[in-house]
Amino acid sequence: MSGWSGYSGLSVRSGVTGRADPRDGVLAPGEPLRPELADVARLGRHYLRRVLGTARIDDAQTPARMLATHLGPLVSELPVVGETWPNFDHVNVQLALDHWFAEPSRSHRLVGLIGFEKRMFSFGDLIGPQVPFAPALGSVAMVSVPSGPGGRTLPCVRCGIYFVTDDRGPLALLVREAQGHGPRTREGIRVEVMAADQVRADDVLHRLRELALVHNAYRGNIVSFGAEMFGPGDSVLSFQERPRLERDDLVLPEGTLERVEQQVLGVARHRAWLRASGQHLKRGVLLYGPPGTGKTHTIRYLLSRLEGSTVVLLSGSALGHIASACSVARALQPSVVVIEDVDLIAEQRGMHPGEHPLLFQLMNEMDGLGEDVDVAFLLTTNRVDLLEPALAARPGRVDEAVEIPIPDATARRALVELYRGSLALEADALDAAVSRTEGVTASFLKELLRRAALISALGSPTGEPPALRTAALSEALDQLLDDRSKVTRAILGGSRDAP
Ligand SMILES: Nc1ncnc2c1ncn2[C@@H]1O[C@H](COP(=O)(O)OP(=O)(O)OP(=O)(O)O)[C@@H](O)[C@H]1O
Ligand SMILES: [Mg+2]
Repeated sequence: MSGWSGYSGLSVRSGVTGRADPRDGVLAPGEPLRPELADVARLGRHYLRRVLGTARIDDAQTPARMLATHLGPLVSELPVVGETWPNFDHVNVQLALDHWFAEPSRSHRLVGLIGFEKRMFSFGDLIGPQVPFAPALGSVAMVSVPSGPGGRTLPCVRCGIYFVTDDRGPLALLVREAQGHGPRTREGIRVEVMAADQVRADDVLHRLRELALVHNAYRGNIVSFGAEMFGPGDSVLSFQERPRLERDDLVLPEGTLERVEQQVLGVARHRAWLRASGQHLKRGVLLYGPPGTGKTHTIRYLLSRLEGSTVVLLSGSALGHIASACSVARALQPSVVVIEDVDLIAEQRGMHPGEHPLLFQLMNEMDGLGEDVDVAFLLTTNRVDLLEPALAARPGRVDEAVEIPIPDATARRALVELYRGSLALEADALDAAVSRTEGVTASFLKELLRRAALISALGSPTGEPPALRTAALSEALDQLLDDRSKVTRAILGGSRDAP
């Protein structure tokens, strides 16, 4: 089923009784995004149903009347239980609902509400005395929400009432997305249940929580917290593709990668046995070293090996979402929390006045997760001096601090070999490159090789030189070491006084 054809499944609920296929709107991994002829028919049916569903809502119908018809005349006396989810869980709320509706002997009808924007309301407001401009019945407003890597999305209800009937009787569910800007958006996605008794309503919310966990869109994927786009407290999670890196793509001093792998991959591999023998699974690894030496590269390699683990990435302006990141990681373990440039939060205070520096919050969150959770924290910094006091004062959070150093001659040789790609090197080019690049970083060497390849190509009559010339390599090196390239050199991590 293609991404957009999945929409037709949800449309069943926009006006007539129906049951959703839990897979609707969700493509299986690797499933091609190729529309089929049948999708066109499905889409047509979808729109027809929506139009008819909306048209058949009697003009005189109000949410209050429909609720009274469904739940009985004493609707205003029925208990209502509500729950608010973070905005980034909109997709998981929808997945939970879809799976819940798909359970045996349950039928439902979804009716949209219009005029819900910029307005906070609950079931109570819908059944109470009608106020001017109150939300009215109408078509179902949907929003396409990312539901997986590769641009997968799931149509999610923005605001609507589900009229549900199953073997425990009728009930109604109100789903409403966050409204307004600023602090109000903190209220998140609201789900309310109105049923004959409170136990029943509580049970429904409990079941939805279970289903959201089992079918969570973020589970096993790499997600990153984004900036606060819609005001303080709001957060967006976006899917990232899992990197594909081989061990040979990384050049590190002997034993370095093994130490990191042991903590991160080794514990993951033996988690069952370690847990059974009472050993803790939670672990923290700090990678430190100058810019451009391969800290992020190492993390990308680890993530490529951790297929199936949930990964939460935090960096830059998203560092304030530490608490949310840890709660996602705990809920969806085995998981990894990656915090790049952790020195940025060493002194930065939290969002609320009087809060500790975010680094302390991170340490508290790391501590608060409990020992037996399978969560690995991967932290990077090029200012380890800023972190040391905090880490020393709170031992046990980071189990392994690994230096990712400036490459030595052996490593530089390996890096030149790696980044020459398929280009052959002239006989003495390798020695020349290694001897003239003392003190530069891996990323500097990568750029050096790219430039040398370009210079070789520019100097070749065919534009495709048979080999990377030694002279081109020295010219590239001269360019990068030139006084005018100071900033470029600094960016690439070349030492100031390289020969
Ligand atoms: N050790 C290495 N082995 C192979 N390639 C490397 C290595 N280090 C860096 N590179 C190359 O240089 C690029 C930049 O390196 P990377 O982003 O990992 O640096 P970093 O240590 O994370 O720097 P920063 O402190 O600025 O974040 C990588 O994408 C990779 O192509
Ligand atoms: Mg980095």
